[in-house]
Amino acid sequence: MIRPAAPDDTPALVALAISTGLFQPDEADALLRAVLDDLHGGRLGRDHLAAVWCDAATGRPSGWAYFASNDKADRVWDLWWIGVDPAWHGRGVGDALLSFVESEVRRRGGRMLLIETSALPPTARARRFYEKRGYAVCGRVPDFYGEGDDKVVYVARVATAP
Ligand SMILES: CC(C)(COP(=O)(O)OP(=O)(O)OC[C@H]1O[C@@H](n2cnc3c(N)ncnc32)[C@H](O)[C@@H]1OP(=O)(O)O)[C@@H](O)C(=O)NCCC(=O)NCCS
Repeated sequence: MIRPAAPDDTPALVALAISTGLFQPDEADALLRAVLDDLHGGRLGRDHLAAVWCDAATGRPSGWAYFASNDKADRVWDLWWIGVDPAWHGRGVGDALLSFVESEVRRRGGRMLLIETSALPPTARARRFYEKRGYAVCGRVPDFYGEGDDKVVYVARVATAP
């Protein structure tokens, strides 16, 4: 089941992001907890969304995504985070979340979804995941996250031109 994130979910969602190995606890607090607090505090626009995939049996969050409309572009959205509890990897949770994000972006009039990520090995699985789902590399910024750590930008059109 996929539902909007609630304020009570925040500790579990931050812990889940840390469990993927992509965030140290202090980074997760500074980035993800802060964004979720802003989201629930109404300090972000209405086109900022956090979606949570919950296990039907336990109701526990096993994956989540945060995405938002980019107000500097025409109907372009950014997927800022997608992550699944490692115990659930390879069971279709990421696929369900990404499909949900795409349909929500489409429903809200978006035409394009961008994803930025690092080119280093810890995100290799995520990059394969995006490529298999039709995302194409449209840019690369050498040494963006640090020396030797390039930023890779993926794009997919989620709606056909009117
Ligand atoms: C990238 C990520 C979100 C994918 O989530 P996931 O839940 O493992 O993804 P899925 O299970 O939907 O798909 C992954 C693979 O498992 C396979 N799969 C899907 N359903 C399956 C099932 N029921 N049983 C077994 N395998 C399955 C899919 O075929 C897919 O393989 P493919 O990519 O070769 O096609 C996850 O690996 C993750 O959280 N990574 C760490 C965080 C991260 O890197 N985030 C992105 C930062 S930019």
